[in-house]
Amino acid sequence: MELVQDESMLLHLAVSAVFSGLTIYKLTKNKVKIENASVCGLLSLLTLGIISFFCASGRAVLTLFVLSCVAYYFSIPVRDMLPMEGKAVLITGCDSGLGHALAKHLDELGVLVFAGVLDKKGPGAEELKKICSSRLSLIQLDVTSGQEIKTACDKIKSRVRDEGLWGIVHNAGVLGYMADGELLPISVYKQCLNVNFIGAAHVTKMFMPLLRKAKGRLVSISSMAGHTPIPGFAAYAASKAALTMFCAVMRQDLFKWGVKVATIHPSGFKTNIFGSRENWSAQDQNILANLTADVKDDYGEEYLLKLRELHDEMAAISSSDLTPVLEDACHALFAQSPNSSYTPGRFAYLIPCLFRYFPLWVYDYFAKQIFQIHRNILPRSLRLSRTKNNGA
Ligand SMILES: NC(=O)c1ccc[n+]([C@@H]2O[C@H](COP(=O)([O-])OP(=O)(O)OC[C@H]3O[C@@H](n4cnc5c(N)ncnc54)[C@H](OP(=O)(O)O)[C@@H]3O)[C@@H](O)[C@H]2O)c1
Repeated sequence: MELVQDESMLLHLAVSAVFSGLTIYKLTKNKVKIENASVCGLLSLLTLGIISFFCASGRAVLTLFVLSCVAYYFSIPVRDMLPMEGKAVLITGCDSGLGHALAKHLDELGVLVFAGVLDKKGPGAEELKKICSSRLSLIQLDVTSGQEIKTACDKIKSRVRDEGLWGIVHNAGVLGYMADGELLPISVYKQCLNVNFIGAAHVTKMFMPLLRKAKGRLVSISSMAGHTPIPGFAAYAASKAALTMFCAVMRQDLFKWGVKVATIHPSGFKTNIFGSRENWSAQDQNILANLTADVKDDYGEEYLLKLRELHDEMAAISSSDLTPVLEDACHALFAQSPNSSYTPGRFAYLIPCLFRYFPLWVYDYFAKQIFQIHRNILPRSLRLSRTKNNGA
């Protein structure tokens, strides 16, 4: 028994040493980020390793440890990239933000970029024309217009011919406005669904023959809100959840054609997505104009004005370094073995884990702390009844 225990210990030490060496080498070589899922996996394994080391009936636990090490090693994402030069990629919504930055980034890497823009004469499009190489083509593309999608497809088809289109990045998106779901006008729900989901589905359908020809990549910028409830995001989150599930099903449908599908779920990045002060007052007016008298009375106009601060708060906790999203989009487009899901940004992996694997009250508690939403803001009638109760 003692000998078995000693053999187990020796084996345990040998496996740990080999595993540690190989893992550190692979994590460094593939530039795996510290907040990545792989690191959580590594911590779980270390715990299992320690248990198996001290466990009296070491064999079973040791076998489990060895098997887990092997599984973990193969789960580390590999960054073997395919050649990018000359491969054609369409990105929607390149007027500003992530799409704009991705168009520049891919152009620098030698990719043949088709940058879809909402306004071909706008400042974002002009900047791309000025800064990028002659490889980049600006494409007028409002993803809610069937006519513009068709014209864009015909144009790109005549450029790529038999090569087909290597990649589509569904990036165009709108947030609408952050407010309680009850307050948001139906027009905001429709706008979010039309741009964030129907637009992406329509573009996918139109360009699919070109993508299948190249056995290429379908990449969508969804959102952390697409798989995790965040207060104030009812319209946006529902449209992103639709996009996320669309991509998940398309991944299965397109497998037989050799087309790979990936979804990116970023957390907060500082772009134009949170709108501007002028845009917020227009949204306030739109909300007020669509409320019934009793709802307006229950919430109070001052509540709406306070909600505006949420946009500032969200922008303040967002990162101005867009690199994590650009790197993940590149990996999804050009890695030999892309992931099906990416979570760039602060807490983009941890917050959905809290939602998925912990009791709801734990998630609700942290969501309230992290998003600061509704902490100090109360609708008028709730405020009044609390004051009354405190006075009684
Ligand atoms: N920034 C974040 O924190 C964050 C987090 C998670 C997910 N995302 C997603 O990332 C994507 C890019 O957003 P962003 O943060 O870069 O915000 P952004 O700067 O507002 O970029 C969105 C782009 O989509 C364009 N667009 C809007 N409606 C369109 C339409 N109908 N057809 C074509 N293009 C349209 C916008 O054009 P205009 O500028 O002319 O309006 C803009 O260029 C979005 O899908 C967003 O939901 C962003």
